[in-house]
Amino acid sequence: IKRITTHTIRTMKDNGEKIAVLTGYDYSMAKVLDDAGIDIILVGDSAANVMAGYETTVPITLEEMMIHASAVVRAAQRALVIVDLPFGTYQGDSSDALKAAVRVMKETGAHGLKVEGGIEIQETVKRIVNAGIPVMGHLGLTPQSIYKFGTYTVRAKDEAEANKLRTDVKCLEDAGCFAVVLEKIPSTLAAEVTASLHIPTIGIGAGVECDGQVLVVHDMLGLNKGFKPKFLRQYLNLYEEINEAVGRYIRDVKASDFPNENEHY
Ligand code: KIV
Ligand code: NA
Repeated sequence: IKRITTHTIRTMKDNGEKIAVLTGYDYSMAKVLDDAGIDIILVGDSAANVMAGYETTVPITLEEMMIHASAVVRAAQRALVIVDLPFGTYQGDSSDALKAAVRVMKETGAHGLKVEGGIEIQETVKRIVNAGIPVMGHLGLTPQSIYKFGTYTVRAKDEAEANKLRTDVKCLEDAGCFAVVLEKIPSTLAAEVTASLHIPTIGIGAGVECDGQVLVVHDMLGLNKGFKPKFLRQYLNLYEEINEAVGRYIRDVKASDFPNENEHY
C-alpha cells in the first residue's frame, strides 16, 4: 500500500482530484476508514465532544489527544494522519508550541498537525513548519474560540470578517501550511479563497468548491443522535442500529435465549 503524503495532497489539488477526510479517534474505526480508502484521518479535538462528552473542545489535553493519535496511527496503513493541537498548547509562546508539536510527532508517529487561527499564529506555524512538521490550518468557525464567538453559527458573512479570512488564509499559505480547513463559511467565499490558493482547502459546511471535504465520523454515521446541521450528510443511522441491536441482546439474555446450544463449550 502506498502511503498518502502531504505532497500527494498538494498534487491532488493540482490534478483536480477531491480530497476525502474524516475524523478518527480510535484503532477500530480508523482501520475501517483506512481500508475504505480515506485520504486523510484527522484526529480532531472533536474527540473532546464525541469521545469524552465535553460540551466544547476547550478542555481536551495534549496527553488525551496523543492517546487518540497513537491508536489511529497504529491502524492507518495508507491514510495521512493529522492531529489537532488542543487549545492552550500553541496560542502562547511559539517555543512552547514547538515543544508540544514535537511531542505529538515523536510520541504518536502522526504525520502532521492542525491548528486554528490565522495571522495571530503565523509565527508559530512558521516555526513548526521550519522544524519539518507539516501543518494544516483551520479558519472560519474555529471551535477552540467558541467562548469568543458565543455561537456555532456561520462565520465570515460580513465583509470585515470575510476580509480578515482572506488575509489569514494568505498568512497560513505563506507560513507553509500544506492545506487549510474552512469551517462554516459562505460557499462563495470558500470558492474564491480556494481559487486564490496553491494549497488545498478542506471544507466543512463551506460548499462543494473546496478541494476536499471533512466530516466528523460520528456525525456522518449517525452516532451523534439529534445532531443534524444543514451541512451534514448522514450516511447511516448507527445510533438507531446499535440501539436496536443492544435491545435485542438484552431481550435474548433476559429470556435465556442467549447463549443457545451452539454458543457454549
Ligand atoms: O476537530 C475536528 O473534528 C475538526 C474538523 C471538524 C475539521 O477540526
Ligand atoms: Na478540531
